[in-house]
Amino acid sequence: MSYDRIEVTPLAGALGAEIRGVDLRRLDNQTWSEVHEAFLEFHVLAIRDQELSPDDIMTTGRRFGEPNFYPFVTGMDGYPYIFEVIKEPSETRNFGGGWHSDTTYLPQPPLATLLYALETPARGGDTLYCNTAAAYDALSDTMKDLLGRLKGVNSAGLKHSGGRSAHHAAIGGMKIQGADTADSYEAVHPVVRTCPDTGRKSLYVSRAHTIRFEGMTEDESRPLIEWLQAHQIRPEFTCRVHWEPGTLTVWDNRCTQHNAVNDYNGQRRVMRRLTVGPQTPI
Ligand code: SIN
Repeated sequence: MSYDRIEVTPLAGALGAEIRGVDLRRLDNQTWSEVHEAFLEFHVLAIRDQELSPDDIMTTGRRFGEPNFYPFVTGMDGYPYIFEVIKEPSETRNFGGGWHSDTTYLPQPPLATLLYALETPARGGDTLYCNTAAAYDALSDTMKDLLGRLKGVNSAGLKHSGGRSAHHAAIGGMKIQGADTADSYEAVHPVVRTCPDTGRKSLYVSRAHTIRFEGMTEDESRPLIEWLQAHQIRPEFTCRVHWEPGTLTVWDNRCTQHNAVNDYNGQRRVMRRLTVGPQTPI
């Protein structure tokens, strides 16, 4: 794909691109079409130098799909779908630390997440991404065949990191809600999902959310879930986004996972987050 209206600089071999030369508040059809093409090609776009109000974030998000409601953090006043991801200098735990795709425990998880940086640490606070379609492609045919017949049971309970209530209790700067209801959020999805836009298959399983395979016990499922998690995050499937205030990163939850690196204790980081495009994984 060639891009005439936007500057596209790949971040790594597997996925990710930095985008410059675009003002998301003033997108004509051709420019939007290039941004969308780049989203499907690179899966993670770090769009630099934006000045976005909450209304602008909503308008940009709606280009990808309808907004998704996030159950566990209260939205901003007047913007129930946008919430702030905040880590204060006094805090040691961050939101989104650990590899995952967003809200896979919903029946229709969001195809895209938009994260807009307001305040970033002088050092650290990057986000890692991995390409789960490339990870799928690298599997043997026999493993692909096996996984193609499995479904994953995905829970919001964060059972492998001490439970959501304990996890969120340590994140003081954010408006957490409903963590005690997390165990009631469960959804069964194919372990290999196909992107309806590209036809490409990707792994859709994570240590954070997938508690077992349908028809199997947790004990039986765990070793393969662990192996798949380790496989997906091999360095050659990853990229890293370094944030600056004004960066809007949008990622494709259908074929990526992300992990917010918690290496900036003593510094403040403030982002605004919106998920969009509820879609039943197929
Ligand atoms: C998230 O997991 O949505 C947060 C990612 C980040 O703060 O970098």
